[in-house]
Amino acid sequence: MSASWSLDAFLLESAERVERYLDKALPPASEPPVSLHEAMRYAVLSGGKRLRPALTFGAAEALGGDPERVLPVAAAAELVHAYSLVHDDLPAMDDDQERRGRPTVHVRYGEATAILVGDALLAEAFAQLATPDAAPELIARLAQTAGSRALVGGQADDLAFAAGRDSLERILSIHQRKTAALFQYAGWGGARSLGATAVQEQALEHFGRHYGLAYQLLDDLRDADPKECSILRVLAEHEVRARAEAELAAALEALAPCAERAVALRGLAGRLLGWLT
Ligand code: IPE
Ligand code: MG
Repeated sequence: MSASWSLDAFLLESAERVERYLDKALPPASEPPVSLHEAMRYAVLSGGKRLRPALTFGAAEALGGDPERVLPVAAAAELVHAYSLVHDDLPAMDDDQERRGRPTVHVRYGEATAILVGDALLAEAFAQLATPDAAPELIARLAQTAGSRALVGGQADDLAFAAGRDSLERILSIHQRKTAALFQYAGWGGARSLGATAVQEQALEHFGRHYGLAYQLLDDLRDADPKECSILRVLAEHEVRARAEAELAAALEALAPCAERAVALRGLAGRLLGWLT
């Protein structure tokens, strides 16, 4: 690692890279239906941390691959994330008024438009992967990750979550599906796009899954007003910290086959560890 390497610089570069790409991939706001396209851009180009793309670019770095080649996966993961937030904020779901310091999409553009924005962003995610040389597994796995057996199923169980019936296993399963699965895809997809070996693919997939779970546990810890489905319903704060630390240790351990070059991924895990300790 060079002395001048900085995680913040990596995160900034990753965010700029994926935002440049998304800016071109999304229809211009001037194209009809104008309010739909404007709202899609509002939902996506609104200053998210771009952590899932950062994981994909970090996977490329870990394999010594060109970050430009993993852009479709990075963008697809971010588009699925963006769509899921728009729908998650709707009155029928979490009913949130603000996101990233601005009015949520339905507050700004109306509920019907927000539903359609989510629909269109999900379609757009798959469009990124439908290039002539793309591996069909990249598309199949994104479908699995976004579908009822992962993200959407996790959201459904999150919404149906009833206090009093909480079990650690149940909450971890929800966190795994609604959050960790997409991080897992972001790591795995970066490796798959670069034609990595099966061992490397698995390493980056496991890194993503453990990192993603740790990220959601930290999100629960930082939530001042714990939702129904928070790990804090079943564990004390120090136990959640210990669990998140164990997930990050497992994430770092998973990197063994490419640890030397995986500077950014180690940096990402290290930053979460820093927040915990
Ligand atoms: C928020 O995700 C929802 C969770 C999965 C905890 P992020 O924290 O990645 O949100 P943005 O994209 O940076 O706004
Ligand atoms: Mg929610």
